[in-house]
Amino acid sequence: MSAADVSPGEGDHLRTSASPGLSGDIHVPGDKSMSHRALILGGMADGETWIDGLLEGQDVLHTAAAVRAFGARVDRAANGRWRVRGGRWTQPAAPIECGNSGTAARLLMGAAAGFDLEATFVGDASLSVRPMARVLDPLRAMGVRASGDTLPVTLRGGGIRGISYVNENASAQVKSAILFAGLATDAPVEVVEPRPSRDHSETMLRAFGCDVSTDGGTVRLGGSRTLTGTTIAIPGDPSSAAFPLVAALIAPGSQVTVRGVMTNPLRAGLFATLLEMGADIRIENRRVANGEEIADVTARSGSLRAVEVPAPRVPSMIDEYAILAVAAAFATGRSVMHGVGELRVKESDRLAAIIDGLVACGVDARAEGDTLIVEGCGGTPPGGANVRAMDDHRIAMSFFVMGLGTRAPVTVDSAAMIGTSFPGFVPLMRSIGCNCS
Ligand code: S3P
Repeated sequence: MSAADVSPGEGDHLRTSASPGLSGDIHVPGDKSMSHRALILGGMADGETWIDGLLEGQDVLHTAAAVRAFGARVDRAANGRWRVRGGRWTQPAAPIECGNSGTAARLLMGAAAGFDLEATFVGDASLSVRPMARVLDPLRAMGVRASGDTLPVTLRGGGIRGISYVNENASAQVKSAILFAGLATDAPVEVVEPRPSRDHSETMLRAFGCDVSTDGGTVRLGGSRTLTGTTIAIPGDPSSAAFPLVAALIAPGSQVTVRGVMTNPLRAGLFATLLEMGADIRIENRRVANGEEIADVTARSGSLRAVEVPAPRVPSMIDEYAILAVAAAFATGRSVMHGVGELRVKESDRLAAIIDGLVACGVDARAEGDTLIVEGCGGTPPGGANVRAMDDHRIAMSFFVMGLGTRAPVTVDSAAMIGTSFPGFVPLMRSIGCNCS
């Protein structure tokens, strides 16, 4: 992240204060999930792939460097416009650095598994304690050899066998790793999903000419598994759009439109939940681009009521619980979010980070097992806290937003981590009127 992204914050801290009347008509950076996939699949495809709207955050830049290290040619032609010339991957000369990104590590391991090479994957302190067995176990069942279940992991690819795998945790990363490895065999490869996970890999594999079917809850690779270069346009990331939109909901007198946001139903759980809270959200100009639904989303401030979020909704909003919990703090009544145990193994123990941050801001919040409970303030929460973001970009952005509506300012640390997923976050938020120093 460049200094310009964080300025005028002092050091790595950001302080936000009441910001009534937010207003703007903006775009957010490209979708992170699609960006990783476009680079990886472009890197494995024969010929040339052009990507427009690539997210140029640190997580995705790690994937770009990794795909290059595996032998593909990856060039930045212009802002968000990248060219990838792919083919058979070769053994990298050095360890593959995945930084803070679980998606980079897990998807790259699946992709590399199909090639005759050995590669070591490393990451930062947070990524090095995150579970990798969830992808390595099915990859081992497909014939891959891999050391350990946390990074650093050394993986020996090649000799891939078929698999029928039940994706119990509805993890798109696990599904994607299996499908990417499965490109290297003609044997049957299928992933059974009791609850559907985001389907960007399937949609994008089809765009690259690969035969993938989705039948009920089963995703299956078909006869043609050759990838051919294509063009991919990446829409705005709904997980990033969530921050300015919730900011508009909680800062009185606000109206903000985010254009070109991906609204794939498997990613749109937050919008459904906010609507249940009585939020004034309009989703307009719905259209389809590259097989993905997109729309313009407008949020206007108003009162919110508490919500009960069922566990089956988790996969469609797994990255949005921190910002939802912030919205719930402003609502009237007790919000209950079921089945969110997975938050403990995200970029931080996100469940603990959400609760600690809310409590520091004077909001009663707690976990009961895998359920998160937030007692809404029915208006303006106190704030006035120094929130530890635990080096987690989404915690930092969520409490940045919280301070826009609380009585006293909120300070978050580790603001530099925001650049992993949302470069330009602070200037964009300032452009809609956020008070931030
Ligand atoms: C992602 C899937 C989700 C999500 C992550 C991105 C993806 O993780 O939390 O930020 O791009 O496939 P899981 O698949 O582990 O739920």
